[in-house]
Amino acid sequence: MVAVDGPSGSGKSTISRRLAEALAARYLDTGAMYRAVTWAVLRDGIDPRDEDAVTKVARSVALTIGVDPREPHFAVDGTPVDRPIRGPEVTQAVSAVSAVKAVRALLVAQQRKIIGESTRIVVEGRDIGTVVAPDANLKVYLTASVDERARRRSAESAAEQSATAADLNRRDQLDSTRAADPLRQADDAVVLDTTALGIDEVVARLRHMLDRVTTP
Ligand code: C5P
Repeated sequence: MVAVDGPSGSGKSTISRRLAEALAARYLDTGAMYRAVTWAVLRDGIDPRDEDAVTKVARSVALTIGVDPREPHFAVDGTPVDRPIRGPEVTQAVSAVSAVKAVRALLVAQQRKIIGESTRIVVEGRDIGTVVAPDANLKVYLTASVDERARRRSAESAAEQSATAADLNRRDQLDSTRAADPLRQADDAVVLDTTALGIDEVVARLRHMLDRVTTP
């Protein structure tokens, strides 16, 4: 089991999916789970800061959680949400929803169940190595400069990049300072700065590290 944590735009999704494919493993995008609950909160016209109402939604929705790294589809109550959960409304509201303790407890329990049922899995998020799976075989903490992360997340215009950088900073700040399971590097995580590294290079390094920890 591989835990991949790090801030937004650090390369977690691309790298985790590619690594899972290379290992013929499952892939779990825990950020998509928080995004799917946020989508349901907005669908129901609920204020993301209303913790009780948000908790009720999280308890009542049925999430379909895709774990195929080639096509990790998500649905909420049977409605496919792959596109809208990446949109600006959900991105704006997700940090408030993910800061609610009861929401985290529900989703972490589902994440642990999926991990428990898997023989091989790559799991990405913010608290995987610290909270969800502290006994992972390999824990990776990916970072990259904020400019590079904004460049990856936006089209080429400079104005869009600076707005994206501001949004990334806002979300990182909320995610790393919240009371419940903040974004934090596990003490035993391997830290990899991906600013100047290509995807293939990062995946190759992770495979090499995994070989070392799993070969007797
Ligand atoms: O990874 P992604 O940007 O899709 O995550 C969206 C949001 O979900 C993050 O900004 C964070 O608030 C939350 N999240 C979390 N814990 C995780 C994964 C994501 O709180 N394990």
